Amino acid sequence: MKVNYNSRYAGKYDQIWDLPESLFQPQLRLVLQKLEIKHKPRILDVGCGAGHHTLFLENSFDGETIGLDTSIGMLKQIQKKGAEIKLLRACGENIPLMNNVVNLVFISYVLHQSEEKEKLISEAYRVLKRNGHTAILTSSHNQLRSDLVHQYFPRILEINLKRFPPLDEIKEMLNRAGFKNVSFSEISVKQEASAEEIIERIKGKPMSVFNLLSEEEFQSGLRSFIKNLRSKYKDKLTYKDSSSLITANKLA
Ligand SMILES: C[S@@+](CC[C@H](N)C(=O)[O-])C[C@H]1O[C@@H](n2cnc3c(N)ncnc32)[C@H](O)[C@@H]1O
Repeated sequence: MKVNYNSRYAGKYDQIWDLPESLFQPQLRLVLQKLEIKHKPRILDVGCGAGHHTLFLENSFDGETIGLDTSIGMLKQIQKKGAEIKLLRACGENIPLMNNVVNLVFISYVLHQSEEKEKLISEAYRVLKRNGHTAILTSSHNQLRSDLVHQYFPRILEINLKRFPPLDEIKEMLNRAGFKNVSFSEISVKQEASAEEIIERIKGKPMSVFNLLSEEEFQSGLRSFIKNLRSKYKDKLTYKDSSSLITANKLA
């Protein structure tokens, strides 16, 4: 169930998720600030994608940010933005960095795509300096279940429940790797959009999981989605977009 972030999809992904900073980044910044990340930290963004968080991290901390991703298409999207960010084309399960060199390893919506999650987490531990932190952004199973999209694309929920590790499992993997002080927070933002705006967004397959459906299956889900949304929501609808942030640190 591997998603192919080729150049075509990378460009599209970048466009769809190039949302204003106002979304949940202020909340994310608050949580990260509480971690007491050292002055001029070195930050590694594993599975940085098109760089939305990489650029946010670069602008939030006065240090060095490194983006790492397996997809050349995604890394090219960051390059186009012209920011001075060091980029590594590599797997999170085999990070081409020495031991104990990074202050924060950020992993946003990558763990569910890794076929060796335990290895990825232990690599994050290895490259972290003593007193370094990891911050993992993901969706809990409850968050996946409450996503509006899943009501119309039930197989997406089925696929995602298999791909996304439950939060308890992530905590166990972090503990096994040696991490301490594992803590969870919900990062959420209230969104408002018209039915037509949401329909346009779904047509663009905003989540990689859509690419795991056959085109027929996608079109059939889309038809019922459009029909129901248009009949139920004449005005703007408000909904909550939530993610789970897990932080932990390396003491020894
Ligand atoms: C859903 S995107 C998330 C991108 C970005 N972190 C964000 O939150 O916007 C997942 C990204 O992880 C990358 N990826 C998937 N598996 C990976 C792995 N094992 N090592 C490094 N990158 C990986 C994909 O190429 C893709 O760019």
